[in-house]
Amino acid sequence: MEYKISDRLKNVQGSAIREIFDLLKKGDIISFAGGMPSTPTLPSKQIDEILQSLVSKHGVIECLQYESTQGKAALMEQLKKFLLEYKGINAETQEMIVLSGGQQGIEFMCKTFVNKGDVVLVENPTYLSTLQIIETYEGKAVGVDSNNEGLDLADLEKKITEHKAKFLYVVPTFCNPTGGTYSPENRQKIVEITAKHGVMILEDDPYSEIRFEGAAVPSVKCFDKTGNVVYLASFSKIIAPSLRIAVAVANPAVIGRFIIAKQSTDVCCASISQLVAAEFIKNGLSEHLKNIIPIYKEKRDKMIECIEKYFPKSFVYQVPQGGMFVWGYFNDNRDLLAIFKEVVDLGVAFLPGVHFYPAGGNKNTMRLNFSNATLEQIEKGIGILGGHLLQY
Ligand SMILES: Cc1ncc(COP(=O)(O)O)c(C=O)c1O
Repeated sequence: MEYKISDRLKNVQGSAIREIFDLLKKGDIISFAGGMPSTPTLPSKQIDEILQSLVSKHGVIECLQYESTQGKAALMEQLKKFLLEYKGINAETQEMIVLSGGQQGIEFMCKTFVNKGDVVLVENPTYLSTLQIIETYEGKAVGVDSNNEGLDLADLEKKITEHKAKFLYVVPTFCNPTGGTYSPENRQKIVEITAKHGVMILEDDPYSEIRFEGAAVPSVKCFDKTGNVVYLASFSKIIAPSLRIAVAVANPAVIGRFIIAKQSTDVCCASISQLVAAEFIKNGLSEHLKNIIPIYKEKRDKMIECIEKYFPKSFVYQVPQGGMFVWGYFNDNRDLLAIFKEVVDLGVAFLPGVHFYPAGGNKNTMRLNFSNATLEQIEKGIGILGGHLLQY
């Protein structure tokens, strides 16, 4: 059988990360590749307790029937409180939709707004799945330069006009992959520049609660005066990724479109997941965050200590104030893509940075995840990786 794949999908490559996950399942590998929360920190006992009484407490219809596409009332109520307390966002029901992970928000943004050939601006480098989604909708991702403050504003304005960009996608707090955070001034300017040109922003914010030090920064959405910012918060990193629960906050006109987009994708989020998330946000989230942040900080500190101890001095990086990643580059022009398989054979995985750039290249960059490995694995794995890098 010759399968005639659609024009839209035939050139889309599988996600580098998912393929690497498959590779990692095969052996006993210390992985700094994924972006997974640490398994022992997942709130298994609390979720177990919630699940044991879920159906008897909420009833069969609430738990096991189809649900409204926009989301369950019980979860919406908790989400409003969460958004206000943790993100400084005051959202009305008609401005929200519950999504199957933040990833679905990125997909719906493209499904709703991107026509073939449209340009989406992204930070250079950016979250690699967003590049795959843009490609799936036959759009083109164009990178905007960044600096210590956030996006390079001159480059942003130049590229908006040059490409008549459809929207700008940003991960402004503890970015995946760079770990960087935009300053409040930079956020305000980004909102002003995009609003001036009638360009929307998709703000993706799955990491901001995982802050180890420094003052919290208001979300980009907090500066939105014209309704051009679509905001995404996810519970994958701060409760559990398997719940597949996230929320989008946007102008009701955009939410209305996302509801239509969701009807044809998966009808609604799983009721059981929504109720578990609602109960956990209400009774367990703040305590859980107090427990996990010091654990992730210790891992971040260990990774930095080991990089200093084992890596060649040509590795240039910044210590992230939160999130799950250390990002850096070698100033002696190494090709990290070329050594990736060799390092996996030694029992260690990282992510070559090339995957995060819309135009490829930048083979001297790498992303290291510190949330998933144990302290012992970080010591051992960074030691092996550093030892291998020192041979070149
Ligand atoms: C920046 C960013 N956006 C979205 C996602 C997807 O997360 P979710 O599990 O909420 O779909 C991730 C996951 O790693 C991410 O890093």
